[in-house]
Amino acid sequence: MERVAASLREKIMPAQQAAQFIKSQMTLAVSGFTNVSYPKAVPTALVQSGHARDLTLIVGAAVGDEIDGALVRAGLLKRRYGHQSNPDLRNAINGGSVLFSDIHISELPMNMNQKTGPRIDVAIVECTAVTEDGLYFGASAGSADAAVRNADKVIVEVNETLPMGLVGMHDIFDVGLPPHAKIIPINKASDRIGTPYMPCSPEKIAAIVLTREQEPAQKFKAITPATRKIGENVVQFIQKEIAEGRLPKNPGPIQSGVGSVGNAVLASLASSGFRGLSMYTEVMQDAAFGLLETGVLDFVSTSSVALCEDSRKRFYDHIEDFRSRIVIRPNEVSNHPEVIRRLGVIALNTPIEVDLYGNVNSTHIMGTKMMNGLGGSGDFARSGRISIFATESLAKNGLISCIVPIVSHVDQPEHDVAVVVTEQGIADLRWKAPRERAELLIENCAHPDYRPMLRNYYECACKNAADKHTPHDLAKALSWHQRFLDTGTMKG
Ligand code: COA
Repeated sequence: MERVAASLREKIMPAQQAAQFIKSQMTLAVSGFTNVSYPKAVPTALVQSGHARDLTLIVGAAVGDEIDGALVRAGLLKRRYGHQSNPDLRNAINGGSVLFSDIHISELPMNMNQKTGPRIDVAIVECTAVTEDGLYFGASAGSADAAVRNADKVIVEVNETLPMGLVGMHDIFDVGLPPHAKIIPINKASDRIGTPYMPCSPEKIAAIVLTREQEPAQKFKAITPATRKIGENVVQFIQKEIAEGRLPKNPGPIQSGVGSVGNAVLASLASSGFRGLSMYTEVMQDAAFGLLETGVLDFVSTSSVALCEDSRKRFYDHIEDFRSRIVIRPNEVSNHPEVIRRLGVIALNTPIEVDLYGNVNSTHIMGTKMMNGLGGSGDFARSGRISIFATESLAKNGLISCIVPIVSHVDQPEHDVAVVVTEQGIADLRWKAPRERAELLIENCAHPDYRPMLRNYYECACKNAADKHTPHDLAKALSWHQRFLDTGTMKG
């Protein structure tokens, strides 16, 4: 297969020319998920010319600095939808100059398809190849399918550095619209149900830009004794579930969230003795790739392959070996509650903080500052077989406790949080009443430095609250956060 079908070559043009299709106040939807396979040349040309301002941008999840950083620094971005992680974008959101609306990853493409949001003027999509049938994406799918389906025009960046071996790794399936949405016939992580390309009629393609710009590889913080211990505790929990007959010997596929903690937790499966496991997840990070190489994992269904430099090289150099063991799906399928529930996914996510009754804050620092967004944590936590939230008990060198009296923002309510794991231990909250949960979280998960303060808060709340079901002292519930803002530490 050629990268650009002969019949489409007349659409090839420089990025600067393609960027002229974009005008001020337009809505753009771009490919890319967790900084993998996002368009680079056209956004860079857009920033250089600066002719289009007040742009609205829709992204599956976190794209690279050429978009989420440079467009913000050039003052071109007005509004941003979808998970993000770029420091400049985060600052603009928290500074109030860019409006941001967070949404479950499964629901972003659903809302694009149901046309509940802005009309999408232009989709810009990085691809490995383009034919008359459609678009063969790069190492992620994200919400690029919904972007292409719903945009008036499509600009394709064909990246000639991407290995042609990526062709065939995708499984694109159009769920359709209710009340006639289709059943998604995935019964195991490896089932393929769609096409390896995103259908796109040639008439819709406004421009094809040939690029050779590689995105930076992922970076993960080194595994620490604390994150290793969290991982060991997660493995211990899963092994106990198997030993006591609540999970099968080869437990359901695993989902693991973005970030360094998720990566470290997964790495601990390497020495767990498990073999032949699978993942049904939205992002495959480094540790998962290592497990695939060693056979701990047999198969990974993901929406993005997000690897550090070495792993990415091994992946691309040996792509033929991995093609039968990885499938790249669009978010609407990778995160669909129907499939997550049917497969019995074990959901592993990282919270910012957890409160005494098991409510989880995944997104806001001290209640007001947006971090990254909730990503797919809600999709998997609500519909998974077991919803595990794993975090260090402390943040910022102990100035912050990640177990707090009440969370300063709720992303996952207590009903979607089954198990909390820290380096201190495991709190299995299933079937527990709120006061039982509080005791488990204080004794098993909180750091010893904060346990006396938590006990003190909880005992006073139990004594003084008018109602004893979920005891709180409302005047003091957020005092830890306020103390941190006032003094730089939660310690009192
Ligand atoms: N208060 C303040 N800051 C906190 C905190 C807390 N309770 N908990 C963590 N942080 C900070 C860390 O100090 C760190 O800051 P730094 O970057 O300045 O060093 C930062 O958050 C990242 O934390 P880290 O410990 O390195 O873990 P991580 O890379 O695994 O990220 C989350 C943790 C919570 C930020 C990240 O997992 C996330 O965004 N989760 C929400 C989305 C999600 O769950 N997606 C899953 C489906 S893909």
